[in-house]
Amino acid sequence: MASNNIINVNLFGEEIGRIGLNEHEKRSSFQYNPTFLERTDLRNIFPETGIIKRTPHVQLFSQFDNDTFKGIPPQFADSLPDMFGSIIFKAWLENKAEHNITVLEQLAYVANRGMGAITYSPSIKLPKNATIDLDDIIGVIKEVMDLKKSKEEKILDSKSLINIFKIGTSAGGARPKILISENKKTKKVIPGDLEYSDDYNHYLVKLAIDEHVKYPREIVEYCYYLISKELGINMMSSKLIDDKHFATMRYDRQNGEKQHVLTATGITGWDYTDPMNSSYENLFKLGSFLKISHAQTEELFKRMVFNVIYNNTDDHMKNHSFIYNKENDNWSLAPAYDVTYALNPLLNFKNTNRALSINGKRNNITLSDILKIADDFTIKNPEGVTKAILAKKAKLLSLFKEYDVSNKVAESIDETIINLV
Ligand SMILES: Nc1ncnc2c1ncn2[C@@H]1O[C@H](COP(=O)(O)OP(=O)(O)OP(=O)(O)O)[C@@H](O)[C@H]1O
Ligand SMILES: [Mg+2]
Repeated sequence: MASNNIINVNLFGEEIGRIGLNEHEKRSSFQYNPTFLERTDLRNIFPETGIIKRTPHVQLFSQFDNDTFKGIPPQFADSLPDMFGSIIFKAWLENKAEHNITVLEQLAYVANRGMGAITYSPSIKLPKNATIDLDDIIGVIKEVMDLKKSKEEKILDSKSLINIFKIGTSAGGARPKILISENKKTKKVIPGDLEYSDDYNHYLVKLAIDEHVKYPREIVEYCYYLISKELGINMMSSKLIDDKHFATMRYDRQNGEKQHVLTATGITGWDYTDPMNSSYENLFKLGSFLKISHAQTEELFKRMVFNVIYNNTDDHMKNHSFIYNKENDNWSLAPAYDVTYALNPLLNFKNTNRALSINGKRNNITLSDILKIADDFTIKNPEGVTKAILAKKAKLLSLFKEYDVSNKVAESIDETIINLV
């Protein structure tokens, strides 16, 4: 239990510091463990964006008291559940008749199950469960989602709820998802919070259970993944489970080790829900600040153009991440994720504001807006890159056919593809 409103933060098996929270004064604090600061390596685990400084003194934060950061520095707020995780979290607490837990207690529940490599202690222990039943999990999630809708009192089976709580609250994002691990040899699937060895492939699975959206979002995401890969966009290997759930390998579990990762929001404190800092220019600048290679800057450009052409308008600052290399003490661009059609193809409303602006625009982006960014960040052959991305349209449409996406949905997506010429 997080006692005295303080919790320890650990990374790579070492206590790096402590977070404190004064809810009354709506202030949090972080203090590095002085022993950790003496190390000559691992100096750049939190890039110096002016938030967490390398000092042995207590650092105070009052500027993060909002829905995105819940009062704590963004580097740690990245570990908290997002929309879907929060729904599960709430149902679980209600089931236990517990209310109003503090954000540090939430981190104590995250414990060593969080995304990335940061862990929190002392943790709140939960029973271990070695098996996984997808149907059961989906049943529980549906019940929880209905509960949210109707606000009726329903008693959920607490054992099932614990199972989904442990593997369904760590990953961010709005859509229903769980973490699983699959044994490379036996193919046996276990809950994703137990192992991180090289004997397993670790997946984040986006579940096809949203019955209110009557089109196969996860299959569309899979088709988007397939063309992104063909275009050379770096994405983790992904597959469909039971022909409908989108499973993507975790970049924060590789080579049998936890990888330290942060979202762009987590590194900078740029609130992903606030248009203020939400621009591709800022993302490119962040890349330069982190000294990513020029090849990665070009990759970022490719992702941006892809997102424009294929209407991935939900390309916010939490949908871009960076990954830390502890040997070199430096950061690089994480593989792309959440690359999909972000509008509802069954609605006639086909225009929405892009989360990240380009050349000051969130709508009606043109080739010249794209070229402006290419110019600013010395991207080679931007017209050629754009043409190659556009040329994948036929492949996307043929994949929709192959995976039985209805004509109506395929046509609707086709209609909105932006002919950037
Ligand atoms: N392959 C992956 N490996 C590790 N972490 C991932 C991976 N894919 C996604 N994530 C993490 O999980 C979070 C949620 O995933 P994703 O963005 O795909 O879900 P979503 O619910 O569609 O999100 P949104 O709310 O943006 O629509 C991401 O913000 C990212 O931090
Ligand atoms: Mg997302």
